Amino acid sequence: MNILDFQRKKQSNEKITMVTCYDYSSAKLLADSDVDCLLVGDSLAMTMHGFEDTLSATMEMMVLHTAAVKRGVGEQFIVADLPFLSYRKSLAHSVEAAQQLMQAGAHAVKLEGAAGNLETIRHFIESGIPVMGHLGLTPQYVHALGGYRVQGRTDIAAEKLLTDAKALEAAGCFAVVLECIPAALAKKITEALAIPTIGIGAGTATNGQVLVYQDLLGMNKNFKPKFVKVFLDGCHAIKEAINQYCTDVKKAEFPAHEHTYDH
Ligand code: KIV
Repeated sequence: MNILDFQRKKQSNEKITMVTCYDYSSAKLLADSDVDCLLVGDSLAMTMHGFEDTLSATMEMMVLHTAAVKRGVGEQFIVADLPFLSYRKSLAHSVEAAQQLMQAGAHAVKLEGAAGNLETIRHFIESGIPVMGHLGLTPQYVHALGGYRVQGRTDIAAEKLLTDAKALEAAGCFAVVLECIPAALAKKITEALAIPTIGIGAGTATNGQVLVYQDLLGMNKNFKPKFVKVFLDGCHAIKEAINQYCTDVKKAEFPAHEHTYDH
């Protein structure tokens, strides 16, 4: 998958599949899967580091995890998130942040929101850094939004999201994530844009979908928002395997003869 495939897939009506990935061993697993694109999301602050929100993601974390994913990836396209405020201080600071992610192995960066980002996006694109936009429920704005809530529910808010999406496209973004917005609005935006939309909690009309790896694998039994489908009972499967290991050790059934060196 390369950047041209995003446009091609939209034109040929083929869905784009994206999952988050934060580490080498998951990237190795995903390398053998059908998934098109890996997102080193700033959600890693929560899933991998146990923070309450994505505001705690740092450049150091993003670079470390992007480099680990790069070492395990297959043919997938890697997008890395620019963390909270790393692209809001100055153009030079933003370029420095994007450079670090690209040099760690990302093929593109993602940033949240349109207002105040358009000049930065244009500069990135002119500098050879592909940019994925992110609109709707933008988690880096959680405090400004008053919590994790569906966006674009009023006519004014919906119109603003459509305007923002068009502005991101005009600035040069190659794709845009639409997070937690009504399905009808996601459809309208998707039809209005030439670039693909990738939805999470935005219905089926978007040109692709993204989910957090741990959520789709059922690794977090206390987190089950409406938009998540759990494709594996990972918590149960992993706990069963660990408990079986403990039982086998206690009964001296592991290690068995085949796991033992005779001389
Ligand atoms: O960080 C992340 O996981 C994301 C996705 C939810 C789109 O930005």
